[in-house]
Amino acid sequence: GKKQVIFSGIQPTGVPHLGNYLGALRQWVKLQDEASPDTTLLFSIVDLHAITIKQNPTQLALWRKEMLASLLAVGLDPKRCIIFAQSSVKQHAELMWILSCGASMGYLGRMTQWKSKLSLPSNASPLDPSPSNKDALKLGLFSYPVLQAADVLLYNTTHVPVGEDQAQHLEFSRELAIGFNHLYTPKSSSDPLLTIPQTLLSPAKRVMSLTDPAKKMSKSDPKPKSRILITDSGEEIHNKLKTALTDSIEGVSYDREMRPGVSNLVDLMFHFNQSVAASPEELANDMRDLSMRALKERVADTVDDGIKDIRERYEELMGGNHKELVGYAEDGASRAEEIAEETMKRVRGAIGI
Ligand code: ADP
Ligand code: NA
Repeated sequence: GKKQVIFSGIQPTGVPHLGNYLGALRQWVKLQDEASPDTTLLFSIVDLHAITIKQNPTQLALWRKEMLASLLAVGLDPKRCIIFAQSSVKQHAELMWILSCGASMGYLGRMTQWKSKLSLPSNASPLDPSPSNKDALKLGLFSYPVLQAADVLLYNTTHVPVGEDQAQHLEFSRELAIGFNHLYTPKSSSDPLLTIPQTLLSPAKRVMSLTDPAKKMSKSDPKPKSRILITDSGEEIHNKLKTALTDSIEGVSYDREMRPGVSNLVDLMFHFNQSVAASPEELANDMRDLSMRALKERVADTVDDGIKDIRERYEELMGGNHKELVGYAEDGASRAEEIAEETMKRVRGAIGI
């Protein structure tokens, strides 16, 4: 069959937390390790997406570097994968423009992401009479899904690993590509211009906040103790887990509805050490007589052990003069650009520019 191309992106938001790691990055490493040799894997640090909301330029530059170091530290191998910053391949912006000429305002208006970023209700419309909404909604944020479509379509991507929250955007990408192919694929050609990508839904469960287990762990939570970063020291991990919210029921049991805090801790432990039990339920049962304090200590030790190598590799990469990092960034960008330019030659030719 057709060769697989796997593409995914992550925003440069600094050092990832355990939700990012267990929900996305670890999945990418697994795909890398299990891919057949002729599969192409691309992982992009999507900085053009990041600027759809206000960013501090100095901070953004640092976050880009930290994300690159993190992707390498978790085990993505630059010999096996193409790891690059979106803005270093100009074709992303070019294809986005071309696709945006065929993207419907109505469809984009029904997408939920711009509404949630602006804290608007899910039935909000971009043409709402409220002037404050109209001024807050920038063109870039509104057309974000078109850039996302360009990201994926530039590389003839066949599979996109995403979280559930992104499935809607991928469907939009597919429809844009189908519409584009319909308009522009030459009659003589049997191959469509753009490859229609498929979704690879991440099987991972959501990691919940340590301080409020009803919410997911997130970098935007104002409480730093709500999340563990993949570079946290053993001491930081222990301290954060010590203050994790649990409940006053005695002993350990697994019930995500009734005992979200305790179950989240059991899940964390299970994620990092799947050889000790067949399921989180079984793991909880094995620990049923532990006090909350003992459970937290065990989870902290397991997490510390699970991210120790990542932390060390990260510190190596971020220490010194960053020469190694810069080298990987340049190499990734030129490999990505080569594929992207191939696609753009076909696209430009087909539309007559
Ligand atoms: P955040 O919620 O911290 O802003 P992002 O939205 O930037 O994180 O997500 C980056 C990736 O990490 C996405 O693939 C997302 O699905 C995944 N992810 C983020 N938070 C979690 C979580 N708490 N549990 C599982 N996966 C998560
Ligand atoms: Na988010």
